[in-house]
Amino acid sequence: MYSKIIGTGSYLPEKILTNHDLERMVDTSDEWIRTRTGIIQRHIAADGQMASDLALEASRRAISAAGIQAQDIDLIILATTTPDMIFPSTACILQDKLGISGGPAFDVQAVCSGFIYALATADMFVSSGKCRNALVVGTEVYSRILDWTDRTTCVLFGDGAGAVVLTQSSQPGILSSHLHAKGSYNKVLAAPGNICGGKIQGSPFITMEGNTVFKFAVKVLEEAVSEAITANNLQVSDIDWLIPHQANIRIIKSTAQKLEIPMEKVVITVDQHGNTSAASVPLALDIAARDGRIKSDHCVLLEGVGGGFTWGSVLLRW
Ligand code: ACO
Repeated sequence: MYSKIIGTGSYLPEKILTNHDLERMVDTSDEWIRTRTGIIQRHIAADGQMASDLALEASRRAISAAGIQAQDIDLIILATTTPDMIFPSTACILQDKLGISGGPAFDVQAVCSGFIYALATADMFVSSGKCRNALVVGTEVYSRILDWTDRTTCVLFGDGAGAVVLTQSSQPGILSSHLHAKGSYNKVLAAPGNICGGKIQGSPFITMEGNTVFKFAVKVLEEAVSEAITANNLQVSDIDWLIPHQANIRIIKSTAQKLEIPMEKVVITVDQHGNTSAASVPLALDIAARDGRIKSDHCVLLEGVGGGFTWGSVLLRW
């Protein structure tokens, strides 16, 4: 038995923050942001709009696209770095908002690789017959953990959510998944603060060694693509669509160039969404599925890299 994606959905908050808006907030320019990152604009959650709210909208759309009812979902795995609260998990809060109960619901914390980790985990539940219909979500409100006076980080990220419904299938859907981590890089990209005795200890904002992240991301994303292709006895030319984590257009282009994947086969949303961390891959997948780029039987490779460091890929037949 296999697992197969039968519906996708996504949601972006209404408010758009452009590079020109950022020019009025910090010492930056549209030209610097575009040329270094490819980002033109990003969406920002409204006051009080939490990761579970974004997830709910994306999930409703995915469930509707799958042609099932929320009651048919018997597993929720939700990837986020910006949970509604320390506990309970945002997956449990989402389950309540969807008006369902009973099946397992839990969060996965793998930062920008979170959706890849969540989908790989859900595949194991569904393809082994333990669950029938899994809801897999990536949702983020990074605007909450950005220092809006730090130009080196605040221009990079945005808020959003994406979701898929994964169901049992006799035909191959997910072909393989490959997950990795290198914990010794935990300080390179972090939001290192914590709460102790009712007070925040350390910085609650994102800290990042941009150049190290850049080099590491290009290296492991290339390896992740090669690993997935080799494991399935495929050639690079067999990949119809590459859907990478949308951190930075230069990381995406460098990876595609090294692998000789033409950019026409790469789904790009970073220009419109910025880096939405765990939401970026399901957001891009939903957009390419809905606008008809991804067609039945296409071979689609999802890949991600993020804090931890974590990285990985999921190869699937649409
Ligand atoms: N606007 C204007 N100038 C800026 C800005 C800004 N927003 N940010 C930094 N600068 C300045 C720096 O202060 C520096 O000035 P200086 O030379 O006077 O000291 C100059 O620009 C160059 O800074 P660098 O950090 O060397 O710029 P670089 O070309 O490396 O680009 C960037 C920085 C875009 C962050 C790049 O390193 C990068 O893309 N790294 C990957 C980071 C990433 O994608 N993180 C996302 C999270 S991780 C993930 O999702 C995989």
